[in-house]
Amino acid sequence: MNNKLYGNLIFELSKEGRKGYSLPKNNFGSYEIPASMQRAEEAQLPECDEMTVVRHYTNLSNNNFGVDTGFYPLGSWTMKYNPKINEEMAALPKFQCLHPEQPAATTKGALALVSLLERSLCELTGLAHFTFKPYAGAHGELTGLMTIDNYHRSCGDVRKKVIVPDSAHGTNPASAAVCGLEIVEVKSLADGTVDFDDLQRIVAEQGAEIAAMMMTNPNTLGLFETRIPEIAKLIHGCGGLMYYDGANLNPMLGACRPGDMGFDVMHINLHKTFSTPHGGGGPGAGPVGVREGLQEFFPFVSPYYGNFGVMMRAYAYILSLGREHVKEVGPLAVLNANYIKESLKDVYELPIDTICCHEFVFDGLKDKSTGVTTMDVAKRLLDYGYHAPTIYFPLLFHESLMIEPTENESKETLDAFIDVMRRIAEEARTNPDEVKSAPHTTPIGRVDDVLAAKKPITTYRQLKAEAQL
Ligand SMILES: Cc1ncc(COP(=O)(O)O)c(C=O)c1O
Repeated sequence: MNNKLYGNLIFELSKEGRKGYSLPKNNFGSYEIPASMQRAEEAQLPECDEMTVVRHYTNLSNNNFGVDTGFYPLGSWTMKYNPKINEEMAALPKFQCLHPEQPAATTKGALALVSLLERSLCELTGLAHFTFKPYAGAHGELTGLMTIDNYHRSCGDVRKKVIVPDSAHGTNPASAAVCGLEIVEVKSLADGTVDFDDLQRIVAEQGAEIAAMMMTNPNTLGLFETRIPEIAKLIHGCGGLMYYDGANLNPMLGACRPGDMGFDVMHINLHKTFSTPHGGGGPGAGPVGVREGLQEFFPFVSPYYGNFGVMMRAYAYILSLGREHVKEVGPLAVLNANYIKESLKDVYELPIDTICCHEFVFDGLKDKSTGVTTMDVAKRLLDYGYHAPTIYFPLLFHESLMIEPTENESKETLDAFIDVMRRIAEEARTNPDEVKSAPHTTPIGRVDDVLAAKKPITTYRQLKAEAQL
């Protein structure tokens, strides 16, 4: 239960002169800090006793919602359970205390682990080599596109255009732009997949300038792109390469491999498919894999390997599932998503009614006459103890509500969630105000998102200054 007093800001709990620490006796003498490095004024730190600090932060942590607290169906973010064994492995002191500047002779174990992880990823993706420098999915995209750019330049063929589907994750066009490439958008069909006719037109008109086509499969609507072999043939035919955004690799595990489908370069969001929670911008890892022969075109993106702890967790995850069980990940993720979709599609609008992969998108409630929006449904879910699904993404629909249960969840969990979603749909009909004014049970109610984004107050000093205005 959140405590009112200790729920105040730590600065508000501060009392001048109070201490939460005691230093051991100084046996080393004192040293003068050069005047140029000394503070001109006192650091404005809160002054609290230890118990106040503990109670404040313990109360604060109780306000968190995580996969360890409950069901977290955040579509596109793959909030799967992170087995504790992975955390233990990543916390092994000899790995955790590695320093990037340590002599190579003392890091052989870590390098061996990276090499073993590379072998596993090659086997799971059908590609030949991986670089582990990129720090996240988007960084992987940039690294992969730079690899492709280097390859074309080595052939004396400067190609400046990248084809990106209109359904792509925003990082795809952003990475292409950062790489200095021009984006050519290919349309999606009403069923959410790439419009092959539009793609043929683009290739016919601009084929000689096309460096690559970026694809996410399953795409950002959670739909499997069935025409990949034809698409790959078309792109290869004009001299371009196929780039696979592997952020959505989860449902493919054990079912199929990007390398076998004709992709030449890909990145994987290790921090989704292979555990490590995805949220708050990190930590992540976006290793980039290539077909044999392309590894010599990897660019220099960092002097160091990326987030080693994320690699440790990924390897622990793969090893603990083993060759046999890792193949069950994809099919189970797909089964769970389809179970929820089919159980709710009579009350929530399903714009693309087909078999989905690991996630799917509703376009809000079916009955729009109540005025209850996707935002209201998401807020009401908090009252029932669920993290909200992804809302208003993808942008293809007005009231997107994107649900991804992952392979981890039991049928009981899915059934309980389905019950609550149905109850909210019923409430929207019988008592819409209850839903529109939700949440009612959380410590903070509905925040003004626009104000928070436009005028964020992130420090106590700012808060005080605002209060004095
Ligand atoms: C399809 C897709 N591509 C790229 C990314 C970017 O990954 P990151 O957030 O690690 O940069 C994401 C994020 O989850 C994604 O869903």
